[in-house]
Amino acid sequence: MKKVAVLTGGGDSSGINALIRSIVVNATKHNLEILGIKEGWRGLLEENFQELNMENTEGINRRAGTILKTSRTNPLKEEGQVEHISEVIKKHNIDALIAIGGDDTLGVAGYLHTQGLPVVGIPQTIDNDIYGTEYCVGFNTAVNQVLTAIEAMRESNISHQKGMIVEVMGRESGWIAMYAGLIAEADYVMIPEHPLNFDHLIDSLKAKKAQGKEACLVIVSEGIEIDGVDRGEAVDAFGNKALAGISYAVAEILKQKTGWDKRIQVLGHYQRGGQPTAYELRNSIEMGQYAVQLLVEGNLGNMVARIDDQLTTVPLSEIRGKKGPISKKFEAMAKQQGIFGI
Ligand code: F6P
Repeated sequence: MKKVAVLTGGGDSSGINALIRSIVVNATKHNLEILGIKEGWRGLLEENFQELNMENTEGINRRAGTILKTSRTNPLKEEGQVEHISEVIKKHNIDALIAIGGDDTLGVAGYLHTQGLPVVGIPQTIDNDIYGTEYCVGFNTAVNQVLTAIEAMRESNISHQKGMIVEVMGRESGWIAMYAGLIAEADYVMIPEHPLNFDHLIDSLKAKKAQGKEACLVIVSEGIEIDGVDRGEAVDAFGNKALAGISYAVAEILKQKTGWDKRIQVLGHYQRGGQPTAYELRNSIEMGQYAVQLLVEGNLGNMVARIDDQLTTVPLSEIRGKKGPISKKFEAMAKQQGIFGI
């Protein structure tokens, strides 16, 4: 093996650049040439490359985002693009490809592997919902960003005795909401994995108020479904709808049922930025090392996965079309703290 290419696809997060740096550090030790592919799968189709080396990746570890840029281009959608990718890979003498991204990006990587392309995947999404791994790059920092935002607003809410609804990302996964809710001691957390019960939510908040709580905090995961709320028809190249904004419907229902006027904060892309946490960096460095080791050993067609804090592999063919659930253990711990009422 002489030349390795790296691409980052889908939603970015903090922790990707540390992964890239770790791949460069470790691939360089094995005398591998490293080619950065710009803008995800689009860059591979358009032969938009950037050489990566020890010099031009120095100091990127703690920067949010991805120095390679990203896109949600789906080469499986258009006829002939997979064949085109094979040709580009041959033309540029790329011996293996490391794909960094969520289930969409890794789904493409898995398919390309079945077509004979040498790939290794690394799970990266703030949603933390990739099947087969307990941790995805970006999740820890995203939760930290949510906590920072909540703390910045909490005293204002208390001063005004105003309850607040904070909407977080995660698509159909409630991981961010639940994790942040546990640590921020939210009064209620609404996640897509659990049926909604507005009467229960109202009773819980009334009980908190009766105990003297001045400003309740409700965390809403963007992916919850509310009857009658239409998210529109628009989807991205992978069929994902834009989900932000459901907290306005939650606030409206609360207003109608109780007259309460809650503050609403949709945290949006703030969650995808910020300096990566120490845990994030440690994970990225380790996953980068492991991915290069897999390449060097010729262990292809796999995704790097973290299980019980150990790195291992999961075949890319196994993850396509599946989602990684919130762990039962975590959920039980969160429930025991008594903040969810679900
Ligand atoms: O999958 C990552 C994610 O941040 C989701 O949590 C969110 O719904 C989506 O991406 C937002 O996508 P975009 O950056 O395209 O608005």
